[in-house]
Amino acid sequence: MREQILAGIDIGSSKIATIVGIISEDSGEIRVIGFNISPSRGVKKGLITDIEQVTAAVEESVEKAERMAGHKINQAFVSVGGPHISSLNSHGIVAVSTQNHEITHEDVDRVIDAARAISLSTTRQIIEVSPREYSVDGQSGINNPVGMSGVRLEVDTHIITASTTNLKNIDRCLEDLGIANAGYIFSGVASSEAVLTDTEKDLGVVVVDIGGGKIDMCIYVEGALSYSASIPIGAKHITNDIAVGLRVSLESAEKIKLYLSKHAKAIQESLKKRNPEHKFTLDQLNLPEQVSDVTPKTILSGIIAPRLEEIFSFIGEEIDRSNFGKQIPSGLVITGGGAQTIGMIEMGRKILGLPIRIGISNKLTGLTDEVTDPQFATTGGLIFYGGKYSYGDGAGEKDFKQVLKGVSLGGSIGKLKDFLKQFLP
Ligand SMILES: Nc1ncnc2c1ncn2[C@@H]1O[C@H](COP(=O)(O)OP(=O)(O)OP(=O)(O)O)[C@@H](O)[C@H]1O
Ligand SMILES: [Mg+2]
Repeated sequence: MREQILAGIDIGSSKIATIVGIISEDSGEIRVIGFNISPSRGVKKGLITDIEQVTAAVEESVEKAERMAGHKINQAFVSVGGPHISSLNSHGIVAVSTQNHEITHEDVDRVIDAARAISLSTTRQIIEVSPREYSVDGQSGINNPVGMSGVRLEVDTHIITASTTNLKNIDRCLEDLGIANAGYIFSGVASSEAVLTDTEKDLGVVVVDIGGGKIDMCIYVEGALSYSASIPIGAKHITNDIAVGLRVSLESAEKIKLYLSKHAKAIQESLKKRNPEHKFTLDQLNLPEQVSDVTPKTILSGIIAPRLEEIFSFIGEEIDRSNFGKQIPSGLVITGGGAQTIGMIEMGRKILGLPIRIGISNKLTGLTDEVTDPQFATTGGLIFYGGKYSYGDGAGEKDFKQVLKGVSLGGSIGKLKDFLKQFLP
């Protein structure tokens, strides 16, 4: 059985998460053999603000994941997110090159290249080119034109760009650790790939990854990635609000938030009654500050709810901006650590009037108990998406190196495979 090692590093604002898996090239199944989650340092809203600190934090996480997996990480897919991300949809057109007018893989590569030829400032770089649909001689709605007959091939693509400076900073950090970059993946795309079903993508859905410092969003319409964005607000803001509102430290505020979120169901049930039982008191947390006179109700309605309202109004604005608001009957799939905040789903339904579910990454096998928490959606997605387009059923369709450098490195996937083979058990 042919197997390859895959690794992913999610550089988040709250945590650095590393995952190591083995993909079977025959079945495409990915088995997780190691992972780690370590506190993040030097990252704000998805932007690296201190390379030395980030490098040390990534090193810690990578070393622990390597030890667990029993393999060294020499190459990894890495997440990119935050408000420096922007997206656009671009169209490409080429004449079919073969004499018998049968469309080949080369024609598809050329038409995608034509679509990616957008004018970009030197401060921005393309990190994702995703075909939405092809048309052959004016007939649209084609998923895969290879083998069809025609003279004119067109494609609609979704393109994601990121700040060159931030990408360079990520590269510096990986270089210092001797890890080759297998490809940047927008964290919103990684999370989407980890948590969405094909039906949701086909019907139309919005994925919202609520992290510590930012919210990454992707919209899928008719099966295709059609809009991406990132909002510079995250679940840490809720912690800050609690700290300010109750005059407690950030550590205590985080403990309070997690305690309320853990008992969300029971607390909400109790609050629905006219005379709620006050069995949920903050006394149990043994905080250094005096907070025994504060009830969950005060924190929920006075502190958390207004922030959640703001978060969903930003998400709503972004959906409006995408112009796909009428094409998302599957509603929202929320993920990321912040998705578990008490009251999140209820507030989302109220503000946006859309169905909402929490998304977890369940497409991997192996050590999955630990990685099915929503905060791992991006991490799991990195190796799921990276593996699919490097060795799985999408192999060869997406050349991460080409996306990275904007030039064709001919055969880089083959080289990558050879390179990785030496680390196999
Ligand atoms: N069980 C939970 N209940 C409520 N909130 C939680 C829970 N677990 C994590 N969080 C919150 O989720 C946030 C971290 O989420 P996540 O790990 O997805 O962020 P990140 O990926 O490091 O950051 P970002 O994507 O913004 O760069 C923190 O604010 C944390 O308090
Ligand atoms: Mg994240």
